[in-house]
Amino acid sequence: MHRKHSLLDLLAGRRSTPSLQLSGPGPTDAELDAMLREAVRVPDHGKLAPWRVIAIRDADVARFGEWTAAHHAAVDPTLPDAAREKDRLRYAHASCVLVVVASVTPGHKVPECEQLLSAGCVAFSLLLAAHGLGFAAQWLTGWAAYDAAVHDQLGLAPNENIVGFIHIGRSTVEPPERVRPDPTAKLTHWSPA
Ligand SMILES: Cc1cc2nc3c(=O)[nH]c(=O)nc-3n(C[C@H](O)[C@H](O)[C@H](O)COP(=O)(O)O)c2cc1C
Repeated sequence: MHRKHSLLDLLAGRRSTPSLQLSGPGPTDAELDAMLREAVRVPDHGKLAPWRVIAIRDADVARFGEWTAAHHAAVDPTLPDAAREKDRLRYAHASCVLVVVASVTPGHKVPECEQLLSAGCVAFSLLLAAHGLGFAAQWLTGWAAYDAAVHDQLGLAPNENIVGFIHIGRSTVEPPERVRPDPTAKLTHWSPA
């Protein structure tokens, strides 16, 4: 019972820290290894392991932000300066961004949506693992997650998609709790008529 309560406490304490409030240091190599080792222990129909993770760390996070901002401005010359700055700043704070990639096998008997869900579990497990190690984190997507040139830049194959950018760092502020859905309103019970 004690172990179960510990997990519920971990779930209850997790919340996102907005990426703009993150700072360094990010996870060490050993912490990153530990997070990944546990985060890949996800439900996975057919043992396809239909996901992978690309780590962008330290100075490369800002470089990625500069690249995405420049790319966005190049494809949309009317992009307001404020939007370009928002692109750049999005990757200017976290010390580590883990790109969770769904590597889906099309036409497999395990439906693509189930493979995608397994990849989503990896992303959430990474949030939990980061929280468990005392890091602050946020799962973001934004336009970059769906942009073909960003996919090329990150070396994604045609069957791959970005499930999320997991921004990880430290935070000195306690992230504000947001209003959570009422679980009783989300639960119904079925029994045979
Ligand atoms: C797939 C996915 C993509 C998300 N993308 C964004 C995003 O681009 N921008 C954003 O502000 N929040 C985004 N969020 C929401 C945050 O990650 C987070 O869930 C929310 O800010 C607070 O919830 P939490 O405290 O339970 O983590 C996304 C969430 C999911 C599941």
